[in-house]
Amino acid sequence: MSVHQVLPKHGVAREQLRERGQFWTPNWVAEAMVAYVSNGNAREIFDPAVGVGAFFHAAKNIESEIGRKLGLFGNEIDASVLQQSLTTGLQQADLAGVRIQDFTSFKPQNLLPAIVANPPYIRHHRLSAETKVYLRRLSREILGFSLDGRTGYHVYFLIHALNLLAEFGRLAFIIPADTFEGIFAHKLWHWITCHYRLDAVVTFDPAASPFPHVDTNAVIVLIKKAPPQNRLWWARVNKPEGEELKRWVLSNFETPKCNSIAIHDRSLAEAIRTGLSRSPQEEIHAGPILGDYAKVLRGIATGANEFFFLTRKQAADISVPDTYLLPAIGRTRDVETDIITAETMQRLDLKGRPTLLLSIDGRPETSLPITLQNYLSLGKELDLPNRALIKTRRPWYKMEVRDAPPILFAYLGRRNVRFIRNKVDAMPLTGFLCVYPHYHNEEFIEQLWQVLQHPETIKNLAKVGKSYGSGAIKVEPRALEKLPLPEPIVQRIGLLPTKLFS
Ligand SMILES: C[S@@+](CC[C@H](N)C(=O)[O-])C[C@H]1O[C@@H](n2cnc3c(N)ncnc32)[C@H](O)[C@@H]1O
Repeated sequence: MSVHQVLPKHGVAREQLRERGQFWTPNWVAEAMVAYVSNGNAREIFDPAVGVGAFFHAAKNIESEIGRKLGLFGNEIDASVLQQSLTTGLQQADLAGVRIQDFTSFKPQNLLPAIVANPPYIRHHRLSAETKVYLRRLSREILGFSLDGRTGYHVYFLIHALNLLAEFGRLAFIIPADTFEGIFAHKLWHWITCHYRLDAVVTFDPAASPFPHVDTNAVIVLIKKAPPQNRLWWARVNKPEGEELKRWVLSNFETPKCNSIAIHDRSLAEAIRTGLSRSPQEEIHAGPILGDYAKVLRGIATGANEFFFLTRKQAADISVPDTYLLPAIGRTRDVETDIITAETMQRLDLKGRPTLLLSIDGRPETSLPITLQNYLSLGKELDLPNRALIKTRRPWYKMEVRDAPPILFAYLGRRNVRFIRNKVDAMPLTGFLCVYPHYHNEEFIEQLWQVLQHPETIKNLAKVGKSYGSGAIKVEPRALEKLPLPEPIVQRIGLLPTKLFS
């Protein structure tokens, strides 16, 4: 028996899963993780967030392979999911060691020999202020410093679990790639690898994603409470299901050849520098980078797209004079091709999609046309002036100003990430990054765009971005400026160094 989850695609049920982080680990992954923690002769496993018992099933499944029974212990905050586990084939007796308790405040009598978890993946903005204060204190106690306020719940699960690990105990966590790529990541992994031995990191190709319908790129870390070592195993699983991952782990990472897994022996220093979720990059890129040719800024954050980003009909109904409107583009999926033309904008207008940004400068409200004053009153009724971001503006309706970027970078779209040529001076909102070439010559801009569109350049995005399960990549503006541009392509297209233009 094992756990199989059919995910609701959207709606309240999906939202509830997100709130509670209730996504179950598939059996082929759970067995490999339990194999690691029990391979050090542990006689029991502890799952801090049991859910419907994926790891308990895995433990029962591999008992015959490891030749001993495993005691099952854990925490779960939601009694109803635990109850559900009885319908997946677990018995009441299997749950006897589970407490209904918040793991982050759990203090066992003895340290734990084997911890295996798929912690609730709850992003920081879903956590209450009180929880955040508690978690910060917890991280200060354990790490000696507090983590950035944007750190997700799962990270606190990880450090609390590490802190509860017995000497030579083992821990296997499946966590989102942001645990390695967020602002806090460098400090966190430095701390972990100075205090524990990071045996292995297992990543997954999108085709082998353990959570195929969730926008999360999962990574497994296998950690021992033992003196640190300066090398680790790093694997990328290319095919889902199957037994190879478990076999590799049970062989103490010694299986010479795995068909479905690419395995690397990496130096810890390189892996931390590159990012543990990324493949090895011993070579330091010495060639051209995007920043040599362009500056990158994020798109405009309106603070309330539903108010400031208008359809043509809304703008006409409100009678906004044209001088207060700028053509704008909001979502990556509004751009179906790699180029924004007048036709793109017309098509969006016909579809009733917003294409106009209400762009008012800092002038006083009373000097604005009466139609606009009326519209702003509506915004005040909606309490927009007190919304995050908007309340930092003076006056609250003053819109950010940008030059229209000739090239946009679309990220986080389900369709491939791409560079888009902006032929109509559309203002991008936050679904895009703005690429401003250092030189305004049309030919130069076209050549840069061609280099950026090249598949070899697109491949390099993995070196600078944060990856998501569906193959999407999120890249911060500063990181995009570091995007390596393949030298042969730069030369073939004839893109000249900007120094020559200045
Ligand atoms: C991602 S699921 C994983 C469940 C299971 N271990 C698996 O791998 O399929 C995380 C579980 O953590 C539970 N949970 C959320 N917050 C918790 C907390 N503070 N303490 C313990 N469990 C929690 C959720 O109800 C959910 O069942």
